Parts: sequence; structure tokens; C-alpha cells
Amino acid sequence: MAADAKVTTAALRIRKGTGQRIAVLTAYDVVFARLADDAGIDVVLVGDSLGMVVQGERSTLAVTLDEMVYHSRIVSRGVRRAHLVADLPFMSYQASVEDGMRAAGRLLKEGRAEAVKLEGGVEASELIRRLTGAGIPVMGHVGMTPQSVHQLGGFKVQGRTDAQRAKILADARAVAEAGAYAMVIEAVPHALAAEITREVSVPTIGIGAGADCDGQVMVMHDLLGLEPAWKPRFVRRYAEMGKAVGEAFAAYAADVRAGRFPSPEETYD
Ligand code: KIV
Repeated sequence: MAADAKVTTAALRIRKGTGQRIAVLTAYDVVFARLADDAGIDVVLVGDSLGMVVQGERSTLAVTLDEMVYHSRIVSRGVRRAHLVADLPFMSYQASVEDGMRAAGRLLKEGRAEAVKLEGGVEASELIRRLTGAGIPVMGHVGMTPQSVHQLGGFKVQGRTDAQRAKILADARAVAEAGAYAMVIEAVPHALAAEITREVSVPTIGIGAGADCDGQVMVMHDLLGLEPAWKPRFVRRYAEMGKAVGEAFAAYAADVRAGRFPSPEETYD
């Protein structure tokens, strides 16, 4: 694939098993979407994590479909080469297949997304079948599914017991068989993610799921260190932007108070 060729679901699928890993990153606005696209990120995900990292909620549950449509649309203006995926938020698809179809349609029509991501396994397979049948590509999401945080008793690693392991494997199989072109595997032991990756025919994208997945996804704020106090085990920080931004803001405030900003060069004659 040429370095600047548009990333499509087909292009992602043929990377399965080639060792060409897929780099996925979240974005919530046009500036960071453009930076991610220019940096060669393969998939930009407008995650419902925006509820936590942008809106300051304690979970993703409060995010609305209107908010996802809005963020997807503004992110789309910064994305040229990458594949653009938007999350279906909590309760936009759980009550009925029809709800899910309409919600996904809005993410593509109004949000300009190229695919939707939804959480769930066996119970989501009918919706995945209907969406893909209607020409809407679906990225699945199994393992620790944040929209079920209360059911799971917190954001906890899943798949450590035999029963959980069997359920997650069945979910992953169901998602792939229903027609998803890829799936996120979140917060499971690396051996389970490796087993799923070997078994399913579509690319797996891990987060807290070890190095054997076909790709990795990170929340932009985590990668950039925008929240200095937040450093879970699965996060690698590639910058300390929270600290850098705090220092820049403080330096600006000090310059204003001391009369050092603006200088004559920064002033119109
Ligand atoms: O909402 C999100 O950002 C996600 C990723 C963490 C996979 O679902």
C-alpha cells in the first residue's frame, strides 16, 4: 500500500497475519485529528471515551448520539488518509436493532464516519449482521466493555476466570462471524488476546491486551500525558503534554502580569 493511500476496511483486513500492525488513536477535534493523520496513524477513532477525557465524566455512559455525531464531524475535517471510525454510544443500539441502524446511519451521514464501533459479542451479532448488510462497516469491541462498567463492577481486567475466558472467546467469534471487519480487545490477559487473534479472521486491535494483537489503540490524552495523575499499566506516554501545557499557561500569566506580553514586535503600529 502506498504511504499516502487512503486506509479502507479492505486495506486493514488484508494486513491480518502479515505482521504489518495497525496503529489506532482516538481524536475528538480537528486539530488533533489532522496531527494524527499527518503522523501516519492508520485509524482515527472518535471514541466515546470523550465522555471521560473531554467531558470529565467518570464513565462513557452519559455520552449522547448527538455528541458523537458532532465530534465525528469535526474530526472528519482533519482526516484525509486515515480510516475514520466513530463509537455508537451507550443506549443508542442496545434496545433494538432498529435503534442501532438509525444511530449508525447518523454517524455516517452526519458525522462523516466511515465505520462504527460497538461493544458486545454474541448479543450484538444480529445488529452487526444488519449493519454490514446495509453497507455500514462495523468494528467490534470485546473483553472489558466500558459501557457495561456497572455490570462488570468497575473498569477491571476481564477473562481471568474460565467462564469469562470462554465468554470472551465466544463473543469474539460471534463478532467476526457476524461480519465485523476488525475488533478491539480491551483489558484481557495477553494469552487470551493472542488466542483470539490466532482464531479470528479479522484484525484485532488491543488496548491493555498485550503485543500479539494485529494492532493497538490508545486514547490520545493518555499517549500525550495530558492528565499527569493518570498512568495505568497499559498506557505508554510518548509526551508529557499536561506538564508542558501547564508550564506554558503559567509563563503566559506571569508575562501578562509583569507587562512582558505583548512586546512592541507583537503590537500593531
Ligand atoms: O472510547 C474509546 O476511546 C475506545 C477505545 C479505548 C478503544 O473505545
